[in-house]
Amino acid sequence: MQMENKWLSEAFKGTVPDGFQGKVGWASPSNIALVKYWGKKDKQIPQNPSISFTLSECRSETFVTYEKADSFGFRFFFDGKESPAFGAKIEKFLFDYQAFFPFINQLSLKVESHNTFPHSSGIASSASSMSAFVMCLMEIENLLVGPSTGSGTLDLCKASYFARLASGSAARSVFPKMALWGATPCLEGSSDEYAVSLENDIHPIFKTYRDAILIVSGEIKSVSSRAGHALMEGNPYAPARYAKANENIKDLLAALQSGDLDTFIHITESEALQLHALMMCSDPSYILMKPNTLNLINEIRGFREETKIPLCFTLDAGPNVHLLYPKQEADKVAYYIKSALVEYCDKNRWITDRVGDGPKKLL
Ligand code: PMV
Repeated sequence: MQMENKWLSEAFKGTVPDGFQGKVGWASPSNIALVKYWGKKDKQIPQNPSISFTLSECRSETFVTYEKADSFGFRFFFDGKESPAFGAKIEKFLFDYQAFFPFINQLSLKVESHNTFPHSSGIASSASSMSAFVMCLMEIENLLVGPSTGSGTLDLCKASYFARLASGSAARSVFPKMALWGATPCLEGSSDEYAVSLENDIHPIFKTYRDAILIVSGEIKSVSSRAGHALMEGNPYAPARYAKANENIKDLLAALQSGDLDTFIHITESEALQLHALMMCSDPSYILMKPNTLNLINEIRGFREETKIPLCFTLDAGPNVHLLYPKQEADKVAYYIKSALVEYCDKNRWITDRVGDGPKKLL
């Protein structure tokens, strides 16, 4: 609430000068949660805190061309093709939260977006695309405020706040390496309204982490994340889940600091399975895992047991398996994926990603 008032009062409310036009561009990555955000209240306030790795290769690259206009204008292009349906989420966000960006009512915006990861790879793009768009919007505001009064750089806390309003988990994508979103007594400065960086609170090994995304299916999910969050309201296990998530946050933060890989693995896998268990005991119940999701999980657990290589899996709200491991194991894991895991992947597809540095200015 405190931040909301600050940013409402700071919003540029002046007249957009004649001739104000140009183009801005930002790339922003996706992220993969270790402790999951599943269940929300009010305006995108999480029911429990979450922690994620910021990715690098899976990102959205977004350009916004802006021009002074008599009223708000908006066009959205995805992969070079005009796509009002894909732009609808951004348009709704701008409409709902225009009090933070009143200047948009004097601008015509053309948004061009592209994802570096393949379409229908089953990787959620809302975290990357919404955070990239928010960075562009803040950049335009900075240009309006002017270099004499504006800071010239973007306030990541503010970017995270707006990204959260656009798409919950997007709040975490604006920070390098790792981020935590949601208030917890275990981390000073944490908030339900925006994520905070964990970059300086983690053992160096976690900054080297790789994420091999094993594509089990690229089909559109049968139940959206939005519907999944809503179903947590009637889920009888919800109170126990939120208590456990808070406990996991505490233990994972300690493991991240000390470099305790056993605890990291234990919590990460248990969180992935809890997320899917919650789906199975929602009413109506649903299952997003596929037979090959389970085959991969069993295979990965067996391989870890046998080789003692500290790799583990996590799952997003879908069937694909994220295989997490430190860089020092990369050669062995690449060989293992090719020899034992690709057979469970749709058309043998997998994507290698790594912990990354957060959004980058493109223009
Ligand atoms: O940000 P949303 O509304 O797409 O929800 C994200 C939910 C999970 O990806 C399953 C978990 C998370 O914390 O990212």
